[in-house]
Amino acid sequence: MYKHRQVLKKIRETFHLYGYEEIQTPTFETLELFTAKSGDSITEELYNFTDKGGRQLALRPELTAPVMRFYVDQLQMQPKPLKLFYTGNCFRYDRPQKGRYREFWQAGCELIGPDTPEAYAELIALAYTILQKLGLADIIINIGNLKIINALFTTLKITDSQKNHLLPLIDKGMFTDLHKALIDFNITEKEAHQFITLLKTNDIQTLQTTLKDTQTQDQLNHTATILALLQDNFKIKQCQLKISIVRGLEYYQGLVFEIEAPQLGAEKQLCGGGAYELLQLFGGRETPTAGFAIGVDRTILAMEIENKPLSPPQPLAYIIPVNETALPQAITLAQQLRHQNISTDIDLLRRGIGKALKYANSKHYQYILILGPKELEQQSVTLRNMKTGKQELVPIKNIQSKIPT
Ligand code: HAM
Repeated sequence: MYKHRQVLKKIRETFHLYGYEEIQTPTFETLELFTAKSGDSITEELYNFTDKGGRQLALRPELTAPVMRFYVDQLQMQPKPLKLFYTGNCFRYDRPQKGRYREFWQAGCELIGPDTPEAYAELIALAYTILQKLGLADIIINIGNLKIINALFTTLKITDSQKNHLLPLIDKGMFTDLHKALIDFNITEKEAHQFITLLKTNDIQTLQTTLKDTQTQDQLNHTATILALLQDNFKIKQCQLKISIVRGLEYYQGLVFEIEAPQLGAEKQLCGGGAYELLQLFGGRETPTAGFAIGVDRTILAMEIENKPLSPPQPLAYIIPVNETALPQAITLAQQLRHQNISTDIDLLRRGIGKALKYANSKHYQYILILGPKELEQQSVTLRNMKTGKQELVPIKNIQSKIPT
C-alpha cells in the first residue's frame, strides 16, 4: 500500500502540473453504459449482476465511459478544454496472470474539447512524463492511427467481418498468421506483402507516398505533426510510429497510443489511450475527446524491475523501559518525540531488555532509548545510535537535539 500511495501521489502531482482536475465516479454503473458501444459480447469480459431492484449493473472495467456519462450529465456547460483526471479500481473478467488481474487500479484522464496535434502531443507527453517521474527509463511510446489502418483495409477491399478477424492478429503482431489469413481472403501475395510491410513501418513518409487520398493524407500529416512536436518540443525521443496499434476498446477513432515497458514481457503495456467518440451515444453534444489510462499495478511491477526502491519509512526511535517503574516516563517521552515529528515506537510487550534489543536490531531503528532506574534518577535516557554504535547518557530535555529528523 505504501508503494501504491506513493505512486498515486506522484501521478496526482503530475496531472495537476498539466492543469487537470480530479473527479470520481461510482464503482458500478448500469451494464448498458459499457455495452452501448461494444455490444452485448463485451459482457463476457465484465463483472455484471442484477441488483435487488432488477437493474442490470456492472463493476466498471475502465473509467472513460463513466467519465463521459458524468460529463454529459453535469459538465457540458464547462469552458473548454476540460481536463479531467481520475484514479480508481477496475474489474475485468480476465484470465489472471502476472500483471493481469481481475481487480486492478487505473490512473487516467480525459481531455474534452480540442483535437489539435498540440493537444494530442501534450496528452501523450503527460502520460510519458508521469511514468518518467516515477523513475522509469526503459519505456517506449508507440503511436498509431485507426483511420490509417482503415485506409489500408479499404485499398485491399477488406469487408467488415474480415476486418474483425484480422484486427486481433494485427494487434498481437502475429504477422505470419495475418499473411495466411489475407491469402485465405483472396488477397494476392504481392498485396499481402505490401500491406504487412506498411503495417510494420515506422517511417511515416513510406505511408505518405503510398496512401494518396486526401483524408488519409490529412491523418498522416496530423500524426507526423504529433510525432514532431513530441520529439522536437516536448523533447521526448522514445516515441515511434506503430501503425499496427489497434486497441481493444471499440470507441477509438483516429489517434491511438500505447506506452510499454519491454522488460515486463507479455503484459508490458503500462498505458493505453487515444481519441474516441462516446458523447453522442450518451446523449451529449459532439465534441472531440481523447484520454489515456495507466495501469498502476503494472507500473509498480516495472518500477520494481528497474530497481526503483519504494519502501515504507521505518520509525526512527525505539524506547525500551527497563522495568514497569520506568514505563510512565517512557510513554511521556514517546509522546514528546512524536510531537516533535520524530517517528517513535515503544516496547509494548514489557519484555526484558535483551529481547527488546534483539527486536530493535531486527527492525533497523536508528536510535534506541533505554530508560531504567539509573536514567530516571538523573532525568536522562541512555541513547544508542545504531549506525555509529555510540552510546551516551542524555538529559531528557536535550534528547531532541540528538535525534535529527
Ligand atoms: P486499456 O488499455 O484497456 O485502456 O487499459 C489501460 C491500462 O490499464 C493498460 O495499459 C494496463 O496497464 C492496465 N490494465 C488493463 N487491464 C488490466 C488488468 N486486467 N490487470 C492489470 N492492469 C490492467 C482503457 O481502459 C481506456 N479507458 C484508456 C483511455 C482513457 N482511453 C481514452 N481515455
